[in-house]
Amino acid sequence: MTLHDAKRAVAEALTRFPRERTWLLPSLQSVQDIVGYLPDWALAETGRHLRVPDSEVYGVVTHYPEFRRAPRGRHHVRVCTGVSCALAGGRGLLETIARRNDVPIGEMGGDKTLTLEEADCFFECSVAPLVEVDGVFHGRVTTEDVAALARWYEAPHSPHAEPTVSAPRRSATIRVSSAESSLEALVADAMARRRRSSRPRLIVHAGTCGRAVGADALMSAVTQAVRERSLDADVIEGACTGMCYAAPSVLVEREGAPRFLIERLAPGSAPAVLDRLATDGSDFGSAGCQGVVWADAAWRGLVPARAHPFWTPQHRVLTARWGSMNPEDLDDALAHGAYRALARALDRSPDEVIETVKASGLQGRGGAFFPTGMKWESCRRASGEPKYLVVNGEEGEPGIFKDRHLMEGDPHQLLEGALLAAFAVGASRVILYIHGEANLAAERLAHAVAQAEVAGIIGDTMLGTNTRCRVELRRGAGGFILGEETALLESIEGRRAQPRTRPPFPVESGLWGKPTVINNVETLSAIPSIVGNGAAWYGTLGTARARGTKVFGLSGPIRRPGVIEVDNGVTLRTLLEDVGGGIADGRSWLGAVVGGPSGTIVPAALFDVAMEPRERVSPGTGGIVGVPIGASVVDIVKTLLRFNANESCGKCTPCREGTPRLLALLGELASGADGERTLADVGALAETIQLASLCGLGQAAPLALMRGLETFPDAFRQGG
Ligand SMILES: Cc1cc2nc3c(=O)[nH]c(=O)nc-3n(C[C@H](O)[C@H](O)[C@H](O)COP(=O)(O)O)c2cc1C
Ligand code: SF4
Ligand code: FES
Repeated sequence: MTLHDAKRAVAEALTRFPRERTWLLPSLQSVQDIVGYLPDWALAETGRHLRVPDSEVYGVVTHYPEFRRAPRGRHHVRVCTGVSCALAGGRGLLETIARRNDVPIGEMGGDKTLTLEEADCFFECSVAPLVEVDGVFHGRVTTEDVAALARWYEAPHSPHAEPTVSAPRRSATIRVSSAESSLEALVADAMARRRRSSRPRLIVHAGTCGRAVGADALMSAVTQAVRERSLDADVIEGACTGMCYAAPSVLVEREGAPRFLIERLAPGSAPAVLDRLATDGSDFGSAGCQGVVWADAAWRGLVPARAHPFWTPQHRVLTARWGSMNPEDLDDALAHGAYRALARALDRSPDEVIETVKASGLQGRGGAFFPTGMKWESCRRASGEPKYLVVNGEEGEPGIFKDRHLMEGDPHQLLEGALLAAFAVGASRVILYIHGEANLAAERLAHAVAQAEVAGIIGDTMLGTNTRCRVELRRGAGGFILGEETALLESIEGRRAQPRTRPPFPVESGLWGKPTVINNVETLSAIPSIVGNGAAWYGTLGTARARGTKVFGLSGPIRRPGVIEVDNGVTLRTLLEDVGGGIADGRSWLGAVVGGPSGTIVPAALFDVAMEPRERVSPGTGGIVGVPIGASVVDIVKTLLRFNANESCGKCTPCREGTPRLLALLGELASGADGERTLADVGALAETIQLASLCGLGQAAPLALMRGLETFPDAFRQGG
C-alpha cells in the first residue's frame, strides 16, 4: 500500500468513530490494522479526529504492548517462554529459531524477512510449547517443526467459520405478555427448525487450543469425507470440551445412539471413522481410535464418561454445554436452555435476582473473591445514571486460560449472565471487554450478541418487556495490569491502563464517574444456573467457605492437560493426578504454580489440602501448572517475578522500583554474593512491596518468591 493510499484508508476508517476520547483505543487498533504499525502521522490523524492532544495519544500508544511504533519483518514469529511452555522446551525453540534464521531475539533480521519475539503466554498452555507464526498459533511444537519454520509462512489466516444467523427471528418490536412467553415462542421456533434437520451432527472441537494442533485440517477432512460418502450429516465447528490433551477431536451425535468423542483424530483417519459409523458396528478401537462415550457402559471400544479418569472427578455446571453445542448457533443454545433464567427474572424484580445471588454465596472468580451479590446491591443502591456493567474478559495472566474457554465454549451463557447482572443493578449498557489476542472468543461473543439482538433478547424491549439494554464489545491492547478493574475503566475512557486509588469504588463511581459493576467471565457464567436453579441448589455445591464449582486450566508436563470444572474444595492431587493423569514421564512432583504470577508455588507436601480462598492453599484465579522434580524452582520464580516487573504500570514506587530490584537481588545471589545478607534484603524488600503497593499487581508480585524462599530455601541459597 502506498503512503497516499494508507492515509486515505486511515481517514476513512476514522470517520466510523464518534469524536470522543473513549474511541481512542478502538481507533488506534483500526489504524494499526491498516498500516501495520503506528507512525507519527497516524497518531496525529487519530488525535485530530478524536480531539485528543498529540502528547496524550503518544502516552497511550507507548503504554500498551500491542501497539507498534515500528514496522515488522515480512513474517512475525513469537515463541512462548511462559512457565508451561518453558517446562516443555519453549526457550530451546526460541534459541533454535534465532540461531537458524540469524535473527536477534526481540528484533527484525537484517534482510527484513523475520521479526522474532519472546512471549509470556498465549493462553493455550494446555498444548505447550507454542509458537505463533504470522498470527497463527502452532501447539505441541518440536525442534523438527522449527527447523522447517518457513512452511508455516504460507499458513492461511485462521479460517474461522463465517458468522451466520440461523433463521429469521421474531422482531424486537413485537410485544407479548411476558418475557417467559416471549422466550417460549423463540424456543418453539428453534426446536421446530432443529426437528426439520435432525441429521447426525459431527462436531469438530475447534477452540483456540484445538486449532493450534490441527482442528482446522480435521474439519476439512471430515467435511470432505462426509461429502464423498454423500452422508446426510452436519459437520459443525464446535468448541473445546476441555479435553485439550485429546485435541483435535470430534464428537458424534445421532438419534438413537449414544453420544461419543474420538480423541486425537488425525485428518487421515477421519474417513475410516466415518466408514465405521456409516457401514458397520465394529469397534473404534480396532481402527486405532480412543475416546469417550456418554453411556452407562463401554461401547464399541470407547470408555464411558462415568469411568473415564478425566471426567469422573468433574462436576460440570458452567461447562456442561461445552463441545456438544454449536457456539455460533442461538437455536442450539435455546434448545439447551439458554436465556430461561433471564426470562424468568425479567418477569420478576431485580431485587429478587440480587437476593438469590447474595444467598448463593457466590464469590467473584477474578481473584479477589468478593461476594458478587453484595457488589451488585451496592451498585443498585448507588445514586447516578446511567449505570454500567463491564465484563472483565482480559485474562492476561500467564498460565490461566479458563475464561477463554468459557467465552469460546458457551458465549450465550456469559451473555445471559451479563444481562442478568445488568438487570439486577439497573445498568442499561453492558461492555464486554475482551483481551486483544483472544480473537476467537471475541468473534463468538460478537456473533452471540448479534443473534440475541435480532431475536429481541437484547435491545429496547428485552424479550418483549420494558427493560432496555445495549451490549458492545471492546478489545484490550495488552498488558496484565489491564485486567485490574479500575485500569480497565481507564482504558475504556481512552487513557493509559493505570489503577485508580480507591475509595471511591467503581460501584459508586466507575465508568465516567457513574456506578459500575465489573465482574469476571467465570463469575457471570455462573449466574444463569444460580438464578435458574436457586440459591439452595448452589449451596449444595462446594464447601461452606467456598460455594459452587470452580473452573481450572491444567497445564505443565502432565498426561491430560485441559480445562475442567470441579466442586470447590478440591485438592491439587485430585486435579493433577486423577484428572491430569500425573506427570507424563512418571517423575514425581516438586509442586505446582497456582494462580500464575500473582499466585504462589505450592509444594507437593500440600497436595492433599483442600483449596479454598484465603486458606493454606487458595485456588487463585484457576490456573494450575504442575512442576516435576528436577525443574528449577528459582528459574520459575524468576520467570514469574520478571513478568511482574515488566508489567508494572509504573504508577507507584514500591512496585515500579522494588520488583526489578528483587530480581536483581536474586541475580546477585546466583553470582555468589553474601548469601544470608542478600536473602535478608530480599525478604525485607518483598514484604515492603507487598504492603506498600497501590494495586493487586504489586501486592501479589513477591508472593511466589516469598513462598519459594520459605519452602525451598536451599535452592535459593545455592542460587538456582
Ligand atoms: C493486575 C491485576 C490483573 C487482573 N486481571 C483480571 C482479569 O484478567 N480478569 C478478571 O476478571 N479480573 C482480573 N483482576 C481482578 C479485577 O480487578 C476485579 O477484581 C475482577 O474483575 C472483579 O470481578 P469478580 O468480582 O467477578 O471477581 C485483576 C486484578 C489485578 C490486580
Ligand atoms: S502496584 Fe504496580 S501495577 Fe499497581 S499501580 Fe502500583 S506500579 Fe502500577
Ligand atoms: S501458552 Fe505458553 S505458558 Fe501459556
